[in-house]
Amino acid sequence: MSGGSGRRPPVVVAANWKMHKDPPATGSFFREFRASTAEGGPRVLVFPPAASLAAAVAARPPGVSIGVQNIHWEDKGAFTGEISAPIARGAGASHALVGHSERRHLFGESDADVARKMAAALRHGLVPLLCVGETLREREAGRVEEVVLRQLDRALEELPGARADFLIAYEPVWAINTGRTATPADVEAAHGTLRGRLRERLGAAAADVSILYGGSVKPANARALMAADDVDGLLVGGASLDADQFADIVEAARSR
Ligand code: 13P
Repeated sequence: MSGGSGRRPPVVVAANWKMHKDPPATGSFFREFRASTAEGGPRVLVFPPAASLAAAVAARPPGVSIGVQNIHWEDKGAFTGEISAPIARGAGASHALVGHSERRHLFGESDADVARKMAAALRHGLVPLLCVGETLREREAGRVEEVVLRQLDRALEELPGARADFLIAYEPVWAINTGRTATPADVEAAHGTLRGRLRERLGAAAADVSILYGGSVKPANARALMAADDVDGLLVGGASLDADQFADIVEAARSR
């Protein structure tokens, strides 16, 4: 459970489309997406590729928020191929993924980069969804706690004060796009570690920070994952590309 006060973070279900879906496919997805996004249910976030952002903003139903998969830490400048937080905001994004493992491991993003991106997002009113998670080698070496706490602490280093207006996703690298899901016990352990650190840093406001699980989430395992302690939502890759599967996952998250 997320704290003695009984206060619990909002439930959030997020779709990370990675490098999938052009603007027409984005429009089709939202025409087929049937989950109820009424108030009181899970908050739904969709992270399309940047070139499909405008299509997503135009086609999303009420209650669905749109985010970018990456931002640069500078507000503007000579950074070919990059998108700043103000540009993302101007294009209709309200959220930004920060520190996704594919950014860290395939594109060499460091903890310091992640910290600057967290600060840039919050400076411009984008809600960051900070991704943390260990590799298989780190897990096998018994370093899960150390790794996720380092990633969390470093990510918050550049923030001007104690802020609780961000989200976290625990995404073990070995569970991403592999069909291998962490067990509810693995997830509880990592989420409990992160929640503990949030309490140390933020006190009661730690209960405002939703901690999502990501890594091979499917309609078939979503309910069991949501039942684990300190799981406040799900970050879904592959299964979020299918409107029906993603809607089923949103429905499963309603069970918490
Ligand atoms: P999969 O659900 O495809 O494993 O991807 C998880 C992920 O990386 C979401 O950000």
